[in-house]
Amino acid sequence: MYNSRISGLGMYVPENIVSNDDLSKIMDTSNEWIVERTGIKERRHIKKGDGNSTAKMGVKAAKIAIERSGINKDEIDLIIFATLSPDYYFPGGGVLVQEQLQIKTCPAMDIRNQCSGFIYSIATADQFIKSGMYKNILVIGSENHSGGLDFSTRGRAVSVIFGDGAGAAIISREEDPEKGILSSHLYSEGKFAEELTLIGPNTNRWVNKIIKSNDPDDVSYYPYMNGQLVFKNAVVRFTEVIMEGLNKNGLSPEQIDMLIPHQANLRISQFVQKKFGLSDDKVYNNIQKYGNTTAGSIPIALTEAWQDGKIKSGDLIVLAAFGSGFTWGSTIIRW
Ligand code: ACO
Repeated sequence: MYNSRISGLGMYVPENIVSNDDLSKIMDTSNEWIVERTGIKERRHIKKGDGNSTAKMGVKAAKIAIERSGINKDEIDLIIFATLSPDYYFPGGGVLVQEQLQIKTCPAMDIRNQCSGFIYSIATADQFIKSGMYKNILVIGSENHSGGLDFSTRGRAVSVIFGDGAGAAIISREEDPEKGILSSHLYSEGKFAEELTLIGPNTNRWVNKIIKSNDPDDVSYYPYMNGQLVFKNAVVRFTEVIMEGLNKNGLSPEQIDMLIPHQANLRISQFVQKKFGLSDDKVYNNIQKYGNTTAGSIPIALTEAWQDGKIKSGDLIVLAAFGSGFTWGSTIIRW
């Protein structure tokens, strides 16, 4: 049996920086409220005409990851694309990336697991490699949130949180069983599906609504979030699923060298950090700069942490996410 490891990482965020003060000019919010509740200071938004889309940002991140992994793009055996904000209703982003990168015929799939999308994707890639079926898999998490948020005061509880961006990783076969992805742990609890959702464009009503309706009060085309319920569930599930990953591998929290939590809210990350007794240098957060980039958040944070020299060979890295579904998961890596 083979193991798998991350052999290359890349990220891309649009150049356009949107500060909390910028948002307070278009809705009733303030820098103080946003920083105090979420830790976010600014985020990136695609600007009309800058040539970005969810797939295109994914391509930019992927090019860097491929180059850093040292493989040729035609050695990619599978593309996995995680997003909640695809360019098209269908087909998915995976095939768009394949075409834009001019990758030879290979399988491409999308994973629709929102903030847990990258963990689900990496777990999927890991299994395809461990089974011996594939050697190199391109995994991308990318979001264009700004294209679909309600930037009026009505939507402020959600729209101040999210940002645009993409991260990518190449997952490659590793012969050393002690090195690479040790295990992933995935969960969902569908009874909470409508607590963090975007109902609008669905197959029962999208033609009627999108084409025939111009109802300005119809908020179903914007994301809805029961923020406090999400927060309460997130802190519990993050803790559980990280502990499960550590136990499975006979490890303890003191052995964690770097925890990269999904960047949902700095307060959630700080809660988890305290729960495991980790010092500041053992938890990587960049939500302050990018907001919540959903499927992009873990690969962007992982790439930055690695670029900054905060991840070294032999380190124990823990990734964990929680989000819409509810879905959650963790991945334990020996770097
Ligand atoms: N600016 C100013 N005031 C605001 C804003 C804003 N942007 N948004 C809401 N408010 C107001 C509300 O109207 C409310 O006013 P009221 O008391 O007069 O009614 C007050 O602030 C408090 O609102 P709450 O929603 O109770 O604020 P809360 O403390 O819960 O913070 C937050 C909201 C930041 C969203 C928090 O609940 C949270 O982070 N939840 C978890 C988010 C998360 O983890 N999401 C998962 C990932 S996302 C995914 O999977 C797609």
